[in-house]
Amino acid sequence: MTALGDIAAAPADLVARRAVGRSLEAPFYTSPEFFDLDIAAIFAEHWIFVAADAELPEPGDYVSAALGPYSIIVVRDDDGNLRSFHNVCRHRGARILADDRGSVGNIVCGYHKWTYGTDGTLLHAPSQPSGFDPSCFGLKPVHVRSVAGLVFVCLAEQPPGDFAEVAARIEPYLLPHRLRGAKVAAQVDVVEEGNWKLVMENNRECYHCDGHPELLRSFFPTYGYTEENLPPRLRPAHERYLSVDAELRQTCRRLGLPHELVEELDTRATGFRIQRDPLDLAGESFTADGRAACRRLLGDLPTPRLGHLSLHLQPNSWFHVVGDHAITFAVLPIAPDRTLLRTTWLVHPDAVAGVDYDPDALTGVWTATNEQDAHLVARAQRGVGSPAYEPGPYAPSEYQVEAFCNWYTTRLRTHLGR
Ligand code: FES
Ligand SMILES: [Fe+2]
Repeated sequence: MTALGDIAAAPADLVARRAVGRSLEAPFYTSPEFFDLDIAAIFAEHWIFVAADAELPEPGDYVSAALGPYSIIVVRDDDGNLRSFHNVCRHRGARILADDRGSVGNIVCGYHKWTYGTDGTLLHAPSQPSGFDPSCFGLKPVHVRSVAGLVFVCLAEQPPGDFAEVAARIEPYLLPHRLRGAKVAAQVDVVEEGNWKLVMENNRECYHCDGHPELLRSFFPTYGYTEENLPPRLRPAHERYLSVDAELRQTCRRLGLPHELVEELDTRATGFRIQRDPLDLAGESFTADGRAACRRLLGDLPTPRLGHLSLHLQPNSWFHVVGDHAITFAVLPIAPDRTLLRTTWLVHPDAVAGVDYDPDALTGVWTATNEQDAHLVARAQRGVGSPAYEPGPYAPSEYQVEAFCNWYTTRLRTHLGR
Protein backbone atom coordinates (compact mmCIF):
# COMPACT_ATOMS: atom_id res chain seq x y z
CA MET A 1 0.00 0.00 0.00
CA THR A 2 1.33 3.41 -0.89
CA ALA A 3 1.69 6.16 1.66
CA LEU A 4 -0.81 8.17 -0.37
CA GLY A 5 -3.28 5.30 -0.06
CA ASP A 6 -2.83 5.30 3.72
CA ILE A 7 -3.56 9.01 3.91
CA ALA A 8 -6.70 8.60 1.81
CA ALA A 9 -8.09 5.67 3.87
CA ALA A 10 -11.08 6.28 6.11
CA PRO A 11 -10.39 6.26 9.86
CA ALA A 12 -12.62 3.21 10.35
CA ASP A 13 -10.56 1.22 7.82
CA LEU A 14 -7.28 2.28 9.41
CA VAL A 15 -8.57 1.24 12.83
CA ALA A 16 -9.76 -2.11 11.49
CA ARG A 17 -6.44 -2.99 9.87
CA ARG A 18 -4.14 -1.75 12.66
CA ALA A 19 -1.14 -4.12 12.86
CA VAL A 20 -0.52 -5.43 16.39
CA GLY A 21 3.00 -4.73 17.66
CA ARG A 22 3.61 -1.83 15.31
CA SER A 23 3.24 1.91 15.60
CA LEU A 24 0.08 3.45 14.22
CA GLU A 25 -0.30 4.64 10.65
CA ALA A 26 0.36 8.32 9.96
CA PRO A 27 -3.23 9.63 9.82
CA PHE A 28 -3.76 8.58 13.46
CA TYR A 29 -1.26 11.30 14.36
CA THR A 30 -1.80 13.88 11.64
CA SER A 31 -5.36 13.97 10.31
CA PRO A 32 -8.12 16.28 11.56
CA GLU A 33 -10.59 13.41 11.09
CA PHE A 34 -8.72 11.26 13.61
CA PHE A 35 -8.41 14.18 15.98
CA ASP A 36 -12.19 14.63 15.92
CA LEU A 37 -12.66 10.89 16.34
CA ASP A 38 -10.26 10.85 19.31
CA ILE A 39 -12.22 13.62 21.00
CA ALA A 40 -15.54 11.86 20.40
CA ALA A 41 -14.45 8.30 21.18
CA ILE A 42 -11.85 8.88 23.88
CA PHE A 43 -12.00 12.32 25.51
CA ALA A 44 -15.80 12.59 25.47
CA GLU A 45 -16.33 8.98 26.58
CA HIS A 46 -13.74 8.18 29.25
CA TRP A 47 -12.62 9.44 32.62
CA ILE A 48 -10.06 12.18 31.99
CA PHE A 49 -7.61 13.40 34.61
CA VAL A 50 -7.73 17.21 34.73
CA ALA A 51 -6.43 18.46 38.10
CA ALA A 52 -5.40 17.69 41.64
CA ASP A 53 -7.84 18.38 44.48
CA ALA A 54 -5.12 20.57 45.94
CA GLU A 55 -5.52 23.01 43.04
CA LEU A 56 -8.95 24.05 44.33
CA PRO A 57 -8.86 23.78 48.12
CA GLU A 58 -11.53 26.39 49.02
CA PRO A 59 -15.19 26.90 48.04
CA GLY A 60 -15.30 28.97 44.86
CA ASP A 61 -11.88 27.82 43.66
CA TYR A 62 -11.99 26.55 40.10
CA VAL A 63 -9.85 25.20 37.30
CA SER A 64 -10.80 24.99 33.66
CA ALA A 65 -9.47 22.58 31.09
CA ALA A 66 -9.83 22.21 27.34
CA LEU A 67 -10.42 18.77 25.86
CA GLY A 68 -10.12 19.59 22.17
CA PRO A 69 -13.13 21.81 21.43
CA TYR A 70 -14.69 21.17 24.85
CA SER A 71 -13.98 23.43 27.78
CA ILE A 72 -14.95 22.29 31.24
CA ILE A 73 -14.90 23.90 34.65
CA VAL A 74 -14.20 22.06 37.88
CA VAL A 75 -15.28 24.15 40.86
CA ARG A 76 -15.53 23.54 44.58
CA ASP A 77 -19.07 24.41 45.56
CA ASP A 78 -20.21 26.23 48.69
CA ASP A 79 -20.46 22.89 50.53
CA GLY A 80 -16.90 21.93 49.63
CA ASN A 81 -17.92 19.34 47.02
CA LEU A 82 -16.39 19.15 43.57
CA ARG A 83 -18.69 20.07 40.69
CA SER A 84 -17.95 20.13 36.99
CA PHE A 85 -19.76 21.91 34.17
CA HIS A 86 -19.37 22.71 30.52
CA ASN A 87 -17.79 26.16 30.34
CA VAL A 88 -20.52 27.31 27.96
CA CYS A 89 -23.04 29.96 28.86
CA ARG A 90 -26.68 28.92 28.58
CA HIS A 91 -27.55 32.35 27.15
CA ARG A 92 -25.70 32.58 23.84
CA GLY A 93 -22.94 30.14 24.44
CA ALA A 94 -20.00 32.33 25.39
CA ARG A 95 -17.00 30.82 27.13
CA ILE A 96 -17.79 31.76 30.73
CA LEU A 97 -14.48 31.51 32.58
CA ALA A 98 -11.54 32.52 30.43
CA ASP A 99 -8.74 31.81 32.91
CA ASP A 100 -7.19 28.41 33.65
CA ARG A 101 -7.89 28.88 37.37
CA GLY A 102 -9.18 31.32 39.90
CA SER A 103 -11.70 31.82 42.65
CA VAL A 104 -15.29 33.05 42.32
CA GLY A 105 -18.28 33.76 44.52
CA ASN A 106 -20.63 32.95 41.68
CA ILE A 107 -19.85 31.94 38.11
CA VAL A 108 -20.55 35.04 36.02
CA CYS A 109 -20.53 35.14 32.23
CA GLY A 110 -18.70 38.27 31.12
CA TYR A 111 -20.88 38.79 28.06
CA HIS A 112 -24.34 39.69 29.47
CA LYS A 113 -23.72 38.83 33.11
CA TRP A 114 -25.79 35.70 33.46
CA THR A 115 -24.85 34.52 36.93
CA TYR A 116 -24.65 30.91 38.08
CA GLY A 117 -24.09 29.47 41.55
CA THR A 118 -21.16 27.14 42.17
CA ASP A 119 -23.74 24.35 41.97
CA GLY A 120 -24.51 25.38 38.38
CA THR A 121 -27.99 26.84 38.96
CA LEU A 122 -28.80 30.03 37.10
CA LEU A 123 -29.26 32.65 39.80
CA HIS A 124 -29.67 35.79 37.76
CA ALA A 125 -30.32 36.65 34.12
CA PRO A 126 -30.69 40.41 33.69
CA SER A 127 -33.78 41.86 31.98
CA GLN A 128 -35.51 38.63 31.03
CA PRO A 129 -39.30 38.84 30.56
CA SER A 130 -41.72 37.56 33.17
CA GLY A 131 -42.26 33.87 32.67
CA PHE A 132 -38.56 33.24 32.10
CA ASP A 133 -37.71 30.07 34.01
CA PRO A 134 -34.10 30.08 35.26
CA SER A 135 -34.36 26.43 36.28
CA CYS A 136 -34.31 25.51 32.57
CA PHE A 137 -30.91 27.17 32.08
CA GLY A 138 -28.51 25.75 34.63
CA LEU A 139 -24.97 24.95 33.52
CA LYS A 140 -24.67 21.59 31.81
CA PRO A 141 -23.15 19.19 34.35
CA VAL A 142 -20.16 16.95 33.76
CA HIS A 143 -19.40 13.88 35.87
CA VAL A 144 -16.56 14.56 38.29
CA ARG A 145 -14.84 12.36 40.81
CA SER A 146 -11.82 12.69 43.05
CA VAL A 147 -9.77 9.56 43.57
CA ALA A 148 -7.52 10.05 46.60
CA GLY A 149 -7.04 13.69 45.63
CA LEU A 150 -6.82 13.26 41.84
CA VAL A 151 -9.72 14.83 39.95
CA PHE A 152 -11.26 13.13 36.92
CA VAL A 153 -14.12 14.25 34.70
CA CYS A 154 -16.25 12.33 32.23
CA LEU A 155 -18.29 14.09 29.56
CA ALA A 156 -20.33 11.00 28.68
CA GLU A 157 -23.88 10.65 29.96
CA GLN A 158 -23.03 7.07 30.90
CA PRO A 159 -19.40 6.97 32.07
CA PRO A 160 -17.46 3.70 31.87
CA GLY A 161 -18.86 1.50 34.60
CA ASP A 162 -15.54 0.15 35.85
CA PHE A 163 -14.11 3.43 37.16
CA ALA A 164 -15.36 2.90 40.72
CA GLU A 165 -13.68 -0.50 40.82
CA VAL A 166 -10.39 0.89 39.49
CA ALA A 167 -10.60 3.75 42.01
CA ALA A 168 -11.09 1.24 44.83
CA ARG A 169 -8.03 -0.68 43.69
CA ILE A 170 -5.66 2.28 43.38
CA GLU A 171 -6.81 4.25 46.42
CA PRO A 172 -5.02 2.03 48.98
CA TYR A 173 -1.73 2.85 47.21
CA LEU A 174 -2.40 6.59 47.10
CA LEU A 175 -4.27 7.38 50.32
CA PRO A 176 -1.28 7.09 52.71
CA HIS A 177 0.28 10.07 50.88
CA ARG A 178 -2.80 12.23 51.59
CA LEU A 179 -2.75 14.06 48.28
CA ARG A 180 -6.23 15.47 48.88
CA GLY A 181 -4.90 17.80 51.57
CA ALA A 182 -1.59 18.53 49.87
CA LYS A 183 -0.33 21.86 48.58
CA VAL A 184 0.57 22.81 45.01
CA ALA A 185 4.26 23.69 45.00
CA ALA A 186 4.56 24.25 41.25
CA GLN A 187 2.76 23.76 37.98
CA VAL A 188 4.27 23.91 34.51
CA ASP A 189 2.41 23.82 31.20
CA VAL A 190 4.29 22.65 28.13
CA VAL A 191 2.66 22.77 24.71
CA GLU A 192 4.19 19.88 22.85
CA GLU A 193 4.40 19.96 19.06
CA GLY A 194 2.92 16.52 18.61
CA ASN A 195 -0.27 14.50 18.65
CA TRP A 196 -1.53 13.56 22.12
CA LYS A 197 -0.95 9.86 21.41
CA LEU A 198 2.73 10.49 20.70
CA VAL A 199 2.96 12.21 24.09
CA MET A 200 1.34 9.19 25.76
CA GLU A 201 3.38 6.64 23.80
CA ASN A 202 6.58 8.43 24.71
CA ASN A 203 5.62 8.21 28.37
CA ARG A 204 4.90 4.50 28.16
CA GLU A 205 8.45 3.38 27.44
CA CYS A 206 11.94 4.01 28.71
CA TYR A 207 13.62 2.67 25.56
CA HIS A 208 14.59 6.31 24.99
CA CYS A 209 15.66 7.04 28.57
CA ASP A 210 19.31 7.53 27.63
CA GLY A 211 17.99 10.94 26.62
CA HIS A 212 17.15 11.69 30.26
CA PRO A 213 20.47 12.02 32.13
CA GLU A 214 18.87 13.81 35.11
CA LEU A 215 16.10 11.25 35.53
CA LEU A 216 18.43 8.32 35.10
CA ARG A 217 20.37 9.33 38.19
CA SER A 218 17.48 8.37 40.45
CA PHE A 219 15.58 6.09 38.08
CA PHE A 220 16.85 2.57 37.66
CA PRO A 221 17.90 2.25 34.02
CA THR A 222 16.17 -1.13 34.01
CA TYR A 223 12.75 0.55 34.08
CA GLY A 224 10.47 -1.04 31.49
CA TYR A 225 12.57 -4.17 31.03
CA THR A 226 11.86 -7.70 32.24
CA GLU A 227 14.35 -10.44 33.19
CA GLU A 228 13.84 -11.88 29.70
CA ASN A 229 14.57 -8.78 27.66
CA LEU A 230 17.16 -7.14 29.89
CA PRO A 231 20.20 -6.03 27.87
CA PRO A 232 23.49 -7.43 29.31
CA ARG A 233 24.79 -3.91 29.93
CA LEU A 234 21.97 -3.38 32.44
CA ARG A 235 22.65 -6.58 34.47
CA PRO A 236 24.63 -4.80 37.27
CA ALA A 237 21.89 -2.17 37.61
CA HIS A 238 19.32 -4.95 37.77
CA GLU A 239 21.19 -6.68 40.62
CA ARG A 240 21.22 -3.38 42.50
CA TYR A 241 17.52 -3.00 41.79
CA LEU A 242 16.70 -6.44 43.19
CA SER A 243 18.51 -5.71 46.45
CA VAL A 244 16.83 -2.31 46.95
CA ASP A 245 13.49 -3.78 45.92
CA ALA A 246 13.71 -6.43 48.66
CA GLU A 247 14.41 -3.71 51.20
CA LEU A 248 11.51 -1.61 49.92
CA ARG A 249 9.10 -4.55 50.16
CA GLN A 250 10.10 -5.03 53.77
CA THR A 251 9.49 -1.33 54.49
CA CYS A 252 6.09 -1.50 52.79
CA ARG A 253 5.06 -4.57 54.81
CA ARG A 254 6.11 -2.80 58.01
CA LEU A 255 4.15 0.35 57.15
CA GLY A 256 1.17 -1.44 55.58
CA LEU A 257 1.75 0.17 52.17
CA PRO A 258 0.65 -1.81 49.12
CA HIS A 259 3.41 -2.13 46.54
CA GLU A 260 2.54 -5.01 44.19
CA LEU A 261 2.26 -4.46 40.47
CA VAL A 262 -1.29 -4.43 39.11
CA GLU A 263 -1.37 -4.09 35.36
CA GLU A 264 -4.64 -3.99 33.42
CA LEU A 265 -3.69 -1.51 30.74
CA ASP A 266 -5.79 -2.75 27.83
CA THR A 267 -8.22 -5.26 29.26
CA ARG A 268 -10.83 -2.84 30.59
CA ALA A 269 -12.41 0.52 29.81
CA THR A 270 -10.38 2.27 32.51
CA GLY A 271 -6.97 0.79 31.74
CA PHE A 272 -4.40 1.24 34.50
CA ARG A 273 -1.08 0.16 35.91
CA ILE A 274 0.13 0.78 39.45
CA GLN A 275 3.27 -0.24 41.29
CA ARG A 276 5.60 0.95 43.99
CA ASP A 277 9.12 0.57 42.70
CA PRO A 278 12.48 1.43 44.23
CA LEU A 279 14.53 4.44 43.24
CA ASP A 280 18.29 4.38 42.78
CA LEU A 281 20.89 6.41 44.76
CA ALA A 282 19.44 7.45 48.15
CA GLY A 283 16.11 5.97 47.03
CA GLU A 284 13.98 8.81 48.32
CA SER A 285 13.13 11.24 45.56
CA PHE A 286 13.72 12.55 42.04
CA THR A 287 16.74 14.67 42.84
CA ALA A 288 20.38 14.74 41.78
CA ASP A 289 21.44 12.58 44.75
CA GLY A 290 18.13 10.78 45.26
CA ARG A 291 17.50 12.46 48.62
CA ALA A 292 14.17 14.07 49.52
CA ALA A 293 13.71 17.58 48.10
CA CYS A 294 11.22 18.53 50.82
CA ARG A 295 11.82 18.18 54.56
CA ARG A 296 8.10 17.64 55.26
CA LEU A 297 7.04 14.25 53.97
CA LEU A 298 3.66 13.68 52.36
CA GLY A 299 1.12 12.19 54.73
CA ASP A 300 3.59 12.27 57.63
CA LEU A 301 5.06 8.96 56.54
CA PRO A 302 7.91 7.95 58.85
CA THR A 303 10.59 7.51 56.18
CA PRO A 304 11.34 9.15 52.85
CA ARG A 305 12.89 5.94 51.52
CA LEU A 306 9.72 4.67 49.84
CA GLY A 307 10.85 4.48 46.21
CA HIS A 308 8.25 5.82 43.82
CA LEU A 309 4.63 4.92 43.38
CA SER A 310 3.92 4.96 39.68
CA LEU A 311 0.38 5.09 38.30
CA HIS A 312 -0.45 4.97 34.61
CA LEU A 313 -4.03 5.56 33.53
CA GLN A 314 -5.57 5.41 30.07
CA PRO A 315 -6.05 7.62 28.22
CA ASN A 316 -4.29 10.77 29.39
CA SER A 317 -2.36 10.64 32.64
CA TRP A 318 0.48 9.33 34.75
CA PHE A 319 1.63 10.03 38.29
CA HIS A 320 4.75 9.66 40.38
CA VAL A 321 4.42 9.74 44.17
CA VAL A 322 7.57 9.73 46.30
CA GLY A 323 7.95 10.17 50.04
CA ASP A 324 8.26 13.94 49.94
CA HIS A 325 6.20 14.96 46.93
CA ALA A 326 3.85 13.87 44.17
CA ILE A 327 3.83 14.81 40.50
CA THR A 328 0.74 14.63 38.30
CA PHE A 329 0.83 14.71 34.50
CA ALA A 330 -2.27 15.53 32.42
CA VAL A 331 -2.21 15.22 28.63
CA LEU A 332 -4.81 17.47 26.99
CA PRO A 333 -5.20 17.53 23.19
CA ILE A 334 -5.27 20.93 21.48
CA ALA A 335 -4.97 20.04 17.76
CA PRO A 336 -3.80 17.04 15.73
CA ASP A 337 -0.19 18.19 16.15
CA ARG A 338 -0.35 20.12 19.45
CA THR A 339 -0.86 18.86 22.98
CA LEU A 340 -0.77 20.44 26.40
CA LEU A 341 1.20 18.58 29.06
CA ARG A 342 0.30 19.99 32.49
CA THR A 343 2.68 18.93 35.28
CA THR A 344 1.88 19.66 38.92
CA TRP A 345 4.09 19.14 41.97
CA LEU A 346 2.37 18.53 45.33
CA VAL A 347 3.97 18.74 48.78
CA HIS A 348 2.84 18.55 52.41
CA PRO A 349 0.38 21.40 53.12
CA ASP A 350 2.66 22.91 55.77
CA ALA A 351 5.82 22.76 53.66
CA VAL A 352 7.20 26.24 53.06
CA ALA A 353 9.09 27.18 49.89
CA GLY A 354 12.62 28.31 50.65
CA VAL A 355 12.45 26.75 54.12
CA ASP A 356 11.39 23.13 53.69
CA TYR A 357 12.13 22.87 49.98
CA ASP A 358 13.91 24.63 47.18
CA PRO A 359 11.37 24.84 44.33
CA ASP A 360 14.11 24.51 41.70
CA ALA A 361 15.51 21.37 43.32
CA LEU A 362 12.00 19.96 43.71
CA THR A 363 11.05 20.47 40.07
CA GLY A 364 14.43 20.26 38.32
CA VAL A 365 14.54 16.62 37.25
CA TRP A 366 11.06 16.40 35.78
CA THR A 367 11.22 19.87 34.23
CA ALA A 368 14.34 18.78 32.36
CA THR A 369 12.77 15.40 31.54
CA ASN A 370 9.62 17.05 30.19
CA GLU A 371 11.66 19.35 27.96
CA GLN A 372 13.65 16.41 26.63
CA ASP A 373 10.45 14.46 26.01
CA ALA A 374 8.86 17.44 24.24
CA HIS A 375 11.79 17.46 21.79
CA LEU A 376 11.40 13.72 21.19
CA VAL A 377 7.65 14.04 20.63
CA ALA A 378 8.18 16.91 18.16
CA ARG A 379 10.74 14.79 16.30
CA ALA A 380 8.30 11.90 16.16
CA GLN A 381 5.50 14.17 14.89
CA ARG A 382 7.72 15.56 12.15
CA GLY A 383 8.77 12.05 11.17
CA VAL A 384 5.33 10.51 10.91
CA GLY A 385 4.24 13.47 8.78
CA SER A 386 6.49 12.32 5.95
CA PRO A 387 4.93 10.21 3.16
CA ALA A 388 7.91 7.88 3.66
CA TYR A 389 6.79 6.91 7.18
CA GLU A 390 5.46 3.43 7.74
CA PRO A 391 4.64 1.79 11.07
CA GLY A 392 7.64 0.13 12.72
CA PRO A 393 7.91 -2.69 15.29
CA TYR A 394 7.85 -2.17 19.04
CA ALA A 395 10.67 -3.62 21.14
CA PRO A 396 9.67 -5.87 24.07
CA SER A 397 10.40 -3.01 26.47
CA GLU A 398 7.77 -0.98 24.61
CA TYR A 399 4.99 -3.34 25.64
CA GLN A 400 3.13 -0.53 27.41
CA VAL A 401 3.08 1.43 24.14
CA GLU A 402 1.46 -1.55 22.48
CA ALA A 403 -0.99 -1.77 25.40
CA PHE A 404 -1.84 1.91 24.98
CA CYS A 405 -2.41 1.53 21.22
CA ASN A 406 -4.42 -1.66 21.76
CA TRP A 407 -6.57 0.03 24.42
CA TYR A 408 -7.03 3.03 22.13
CA THR A 409 -7.94 1.14 18.96
CA THR A 410 -10.28 -1.13 20.95
CA ARG A 411 -12.09 1.99 22.20
CA LEU A 412 -12.30 3.38 18.64
CA ARG A 413 -13.71 0.10 17.36
CA THR A 414 -16.36 0.13 20.09
CA HIS A 415 -17.22 3.73 19.27
CA LEU A 416 -17.41 2.98 15.54
CA GLY A 417 -19.47 -0.18 16.14
CA ARG A 418 -16.85 -2.38 14.48
S1 FES B 1 -23.58 34.65 26.44
FE1 FES B 1 -23.32 34.54 28.58
S2 FES B 1 -24.58 36.08 29.37
FE2 FES B 1 -24.87 36.20 27.23
FE1 LIG C 1 10.98 10.33 28.37
